[in-house]
Amino acid sequence: MTVCEYKPGLEGIPAAQSSISHVDGQKGILEYRGIHIEELAEKSTFLETAYLLIWGQLPTKEELEEFEKDIRYHRRIKYRIRDMMKCFPETGHPMDALQTSAAALGLFYARRALDNPAYIRKAVVRLLAKIPTMVAAFQLMRKGNDPVRPRDDLDYAANFLYMLNEREPDPLAARIFDVCLILHAEQTMNASTFSARVTASTLTDPYAVVASAVGTLAGPLHGGANEEVITMLEEIGSVENVRSYVENLPPKAKIMGFGHRVYKVKDPRATILQKLAHQMFDKYGHDMHYDIAVELERVIKEKLGDKGIHANVDFYSGLVYRKLGIPSDLFTPVFAIARVAGWLAHWKEQLAENRILRPTQIYTGDHDMPYTPIAQR
Ligand code: ACO
Repeated sequence: MTVCEYKPGLEGIPAAQSSISHVDGQKGILEYRGIHIEELAEKSTFLETAYLLIWGQLPTKEELEEFEKDIRYHRRIKYRIRDMMKCFPETGHPMDALQTSAAALGLFYARRALDNPAYIRKAVVRLLAKIPTMVAAFQLMRKGNDPVRPRDDLDYAANFLYMLNEREPDPLAARIFDVCLILHAEQTMNASTFSARVTASTLTDPYAVVASAVGTLAGPLHGGANEEVITMLEEIGSVENVRSYVENLPPKAKIMGFGHRVYKVKDPRATILQKLAHQMFDKYGHDMHYDIAVELERVIKEKLGDKGIHANVDFYSGLVYRKLGIPSDLFTPVFAIARVAGWLAHWKEQLAENRILRPTQIYTGDHDMPYTPIAQR
């Protein structure tokens, strides 16, 4: 076997052959199964997009209706899961609550039949259906309230916002949230997807696959950045403070919501999210943190644009979520609700041609060392 050069962060190393999504980081293009993200954001729904990602083609009308019906039916969570979640500390981060709850599904649906398409479909339906219910349930329970039952007459996005805010959202808010889910559903071989594929490759259950991916998404260099962006915008406080904030950062400080391993131009999802933010402000009132964000993007472009550092998906998403009544520590769980679709598509693809993911390392330690007795150390 040839010994390869070590690449920190595995930059540029292919970890799979995949036909799920494609990014052109120089041109700012993202496609799901060959369809441009802009077109899906305009014409599709999240569940249709999830079907496309997972089964490789757009569903027929009947297939989509059946899929949506199954997901409605599986939205409820067992009372034992709710009781378990009631014991979580209310100070715990909702991503930790979600990771634990997702893993717990494996206790309740323990049968594993990875070569059975009916099992795969059921697991996909359960995870897509139950993750939003678990996110909303934790939010209400940590406030001391009972969780709200899902409503079968509401579609996927509207039902989540209803379970979260205890009131039915208006159609524009529900549609904007659905588009946010489409934008976050998949993004090639990112850290959490890699984590999902490593876990999948051991042939464990899909709940463990999703739980490991949720844990990976939680970090501030990945999905957790959207929460940090809002904290940063609040800290900056006004448009006038932007330049001095940036100039007073310690050398090499990472500015949250900027930079990407693959995109060297502005992330196309950031552009769409910015438009959605405008639609939200037109209907529900302006947010002055948006003006700070626009100025920050301008200053970063001036200072770091030459290095290919531009706004990524996490930069504008929080501003949209805030207007939808989503608290900032739920931004990453909401990202996870969407990304479950991509993780499941990769789970299915990994199983189709599985070989356990077991890379190598370059050993830099000692050899043939003596064992020193404890008294002599
Ligand atoms: N602010 C300032 N400088 C940056 C930023 C940033 N946000 N991102 C990268 N750079 C600089 C680095 O300092 C480095 O500079 P150098 O070459 O002079 O040392 C260079 O750009 C390359 O940066 P790396 O960290 O090596 O790039 P990498 O591809 O490993 O990291 C990452 C990508 C993690 C997204 C990084 O850009 C970052 O930390 N961004 C902030 C966190 C963030 O927004 N994460 C969300 C990403 S999107 C997502 O996961 C959903």
